[in-house]
Amino acid sequence: MAKKRVFSGIQPSGTLHIGNYFGALKQWVSMVDDFDCIYCIVDYHALTTVKDPAQLRNNTIEGAKDLIAVGIDPSKTVLFNQSAVLEHTELAWVFECLVSVPFLMQAHAYKDKIAKGLEANAGLFNYPMLMAADILLYDTDFVPVGADQRQHVEYAREAASKFNHMYGDTFKEPHEKILDAVAVVPGTDGQKMSKSYGNTIPLFGSTDEIARSVMSIVTDSSGTTPSNVLAIHRLLKPEEELASLYEKNMGNYKALKEALIDDLDAVISPMRAKRNALSDDDVKAVLTEGAEKAASIASAKMRDVRKKIGVGT
Ligand code: AMP
Ligand code: TRP
Repeated sequence: MAKKRVFSGIQPSGTLHIGNYFGALKQWVSMVDDFDCIYCIVDYHALTTVKDPAQLRNNTIEGAKDLIAVGIDPSKTVLFNQSAVLEHTELAWVFECLVSVPFLMQAHAYKDKIAKGLEANAGLFNYPMLMAADILLYDTDFVPVGADQRQHVEYAREAASKFNHMYGDTFKEPHEKILDAVAVVPGTDGQKMSKSYGNTIPLFGSTDEIARSVMSIVTDSSGTTPSNVLAIHRLLKPEEELASLYEKNMGNYKALKEALIDDLDAVISPMRAKRNALSDDDVKAVLTEGAEKAASIASAKMRDVRKKIGVGT
């Protein structure tokens, strides 16, 4: 039986944190053997916010290194950058002509960004339709993402169903795959870990950087268990082991933080070593090969779309 198709994307927006890893990338890695996986560095999505060309290009290369280092094996998956397959932006336009402005105005991600005072460029507004194009070009079954992306996958389903209804059956309706247990990874202040809150633990940080972030975790002095430390520890160790560790060190926050540093470093150090061994040329070759494979699927789908909508001759 053919494997089900998985597609996911990540913005090349700079340094990854452990929230990105436990909330999303770890799941991507775990699917590599059982699914036909396509992973995409969505550089055109990043253009909604990153305006420095050198930075965008560099982030894309570094983003590919990140993915390979966490365990996405390019010999078993398709790994490419979005802008290398032109059909993504082309199909996004087709969807934008299909959906209404009020429909897009309901997007949480857009509303949040506007609420934070970010400039409302039209790309940011249309973001969900580019994401829908990413997913739908490849007849995707499952989209592994963090909980914050659930609505975007619903948008992709809507776009598929609107198109199919109007032009005939063309796109498969995809489903999100969200790991509920780690749906939101808390940061050092207990809020959602996010670059914009400055509460992150860097995924490829040095042992010192990890230690500094962990030592800065806010502990609630009213109880005996540092809940923000435990919440991150839960990502690394089974509950029984943690119960005895936290029992033994009750009230000793320093010892518990040191244990967390060791446990984090044990996971991170092999990934850090793998990442350091990758050159820019290595990853450019991977992306080029990935783009060729992706384009062969995407171009066939777009030919069908163009015929159905009545563009071209
Ligand atoms: P971002 O760069 O913030 O868009 O995140 C990239 C991926 O990591 C998305 O799938 C997010 O849902 C996921 N992610 C980011 N921060 C967290 C977090 N604190 N907890 C769980 N998942 C996260
Ligand atoms: N919007 C996603 C995020 O910010 C990134 C993304 C773009 C994506 N295209 C995608 C995720 C397609 C899954 C599938 O995390």
